[in-house]
Amino acid sequence: MSQFNHIIDIAKYGLNNDQEKLLAALNELIEYSKKTKKINFALQLQSILKETIRHQQNTGLTKVGSDGHFQRIEDREFNEFIIEKLTSDYSFDNLICDVEVKNELQYFIQEHKASDVLNRFELPIANKVLLHGPSGCGKTLASYVIAGELEKMMVVINLGAIVSSKLGETSKNLSKVFKRATTEDLIIFFDEFDSLGKIRDYAQDHGEMKRIVNTILQLFDYLPQSSIVIAATNQVNMIDEALLRRFDLNIKFELPAEDRIHELIDLTLKNGMFQFDKPKSVNSIIKESVGLSYYAIQKTLITSIKRSLFSLPKNTIPATAKINTKIWQQLIIKEKRSLSAIK
Ligand SMILES: Nc1ncnc2c1ncn2[C@@H]1O[C@H](COP(=O)(O)OP(=O)(O)O)[C@@H](O)[C@H]1O
Ligand SMILES: [Mg+2]
Repeated sequence: MSQFNHIIDIAKYGLNNDQEKLLAALNELIEYSKKTKKINFALQLQSILKETIRHQQNTGLTKVGSDGHFQRIEDREFNEFIIEKLTSDYSFDNLICDVEVKNELQYFIQEHKASDVLNRFELPIANKVLLHGPSGCGKTLASYVIAGELEKMMVVINLGAIVSSKLGETSKNLSKVFKRATTEDLIIFFDEFDSLGKIRDYAQDHGEMKRIVNTILQLFDYLPQSSIVIAATNQVNMIDEALLRRFDLNIKFELPAEDRIHELIDLTLKNGMFQFDKPKSVNSIIKESVGLSYYAIQKTLITSIKRSLFSLPKNTIPATAKINTKIWQQLIIKEKRSLSAIK
């Protein structure tokens, strides 16, 4: 049966309101998509299906205090605590980093792919990762790579919504998120994990921060081996020491050196549609770029490509275009100046 046949079935059962057959057809499409390696599509469909079923079980009039009523409140709260639920197509090809970082990430992914081997020998599986280092160096990107390589859905947690000024609420919110994410086999991603440290600012009693750290430590302790938590931060010094120690993996991302910048340029121009007008000056611009983040360098390069295209004569759309190297250089210089102004 082809994908189209599945879609025809789904349309037919959907339009006829035949819920039972529709669900069966959707499940068949999910299985078919997994077999034909359309994993992200399968994951998304599965998630929609699960959510809809849960929602249907709890719609209609529910008695206050009944199971359905609590479930509905929980669903609403969980959605408030997450920024995004996503699947990812990213792989190692998208991430440029030092060999050590790549190795660490690869071993981590391997542990989860080969979890049955580790389980057989009763070895623990690393499942808590901290990514740290300057902004724009690929921490968020690395989390997408993990999700993409492991073919899992990921929830990006809204720490701002979780952190509450009400005593004890933050711990409760965290527990809820962990519980739901582990039952749904979602990767938990805390971006800007350091914002937990901000609790210190508005917690009237200093005990609150301690309570939250303890909650996380406990949640970490009871985290099932197959679940994954990723935290990312630009300010690792803001994170409680006891908490730091509890991560299985602590990966530092660095600003790119010259050879990494070369790789970034190759990656950014990999479709072959753009070339530099003065290839010989590229090396010296790369030298000038040292000190900037991957993000800043890539951004200026893309901006210079766009501006080079605008300078072409009207109505010409060539298959390949030259990048005005001078424009890129000026943008790099400007970027460096604004960086030293901040410092
Ligand atoms: N190491 C990297 N390799 C390739 N691209 C990168 C890298 N770091 C940053 N980028 C580019 O910059 C964007 C933003 O990076 P991001 O992962 O959000 O940085 P961070 O989370 O460390 O602040 C990425 O989507 C990517 O386009
Ligand atoms: Mg980030």
